[in-house]
Amino acid sequence: MNQNIAIDGPAGAGKSTIARRVAAERKMIYVDTGAMYRAMGIFLQRKQVDLSDPAAVQAAADEADISIEYQNDAQQVILCGENVTGLLRTEEAGHGASLVSVLAPVRRKMVELQQRLASRTAVVMDGRDIGTVVLPDALLKIYLTASSEVRARRRCHELEEKGESCRLEDIQKDIEERDYRDMHREISPLVQADDAVLVDSSDMTIDEVVVRIIRLYEERL
Ligand code: DC
Repeated sequence: MNQNIAIDGPAGAGKSTIARRVAAERKMIYVDTGAMYRAMGIFLQRKQVDLSDPAAVQAAADEADISIEYQNDAQQVILCGENVTGLLRTEEAGHGASLVSVLAPVRRKMVELQQRLASRTAVVMDGRDIGTVVLPDALLKIYLTASSEVRARRRCHELEEKGESCRLEDIQKDIEERDYRDMHREISPLVQADDAVLVDSSDMTIDEVVVRIIRLYEERL
């Protein structure tokens, strides 16, 4: 039986923190698909590919060797033999990922890789198109959101904890621009799947969201 959980939602809604916790509690594999798009963004930037040239993007996407490994249950993204995990969680990498994720050859390649991962073992996968495109038969689909202000505050807090400075207005503006791009792109825009459960985490703690998702999952099993 398909036992996958799909979690979609806008940037900064807490998807990765929550998906990681749900996966740990249920002894499932967590797959962070945003990290894969971030790695692809780095690859295309390093190769200085002209993103407006579909043939160049197709050739580069074919060449990009992106794979996932696990070290102590933490996902590692390997780009052409190099572990790039430490480079992925910056605002710049997120911005780059949002730009390359609109490109059809990039999405085709990522979806194929993600479906292959989920066919081997039960996963908790988070992203933007998981419930709609990658795992349309997932046992449980969650659409996790929060207001853009709450999401910006959380991102700022995260950056400050890493010792980076942050301006709340800039982060909120970037989040809103990214939402717009993710929700209005032609291919696989971010939308709530018809059969997804909407969870608004604006006024919920991480624990409350995790408990809610696990309860929903166990009901379906
Ligand atoms: O979740 P994240 O912030 O790491 O994602 C970075 C970007 O990648 C995001 O702006 C949109 C894109 N993305 C996507 O289009 N589809 C996914 N399944 C995951 C991420």
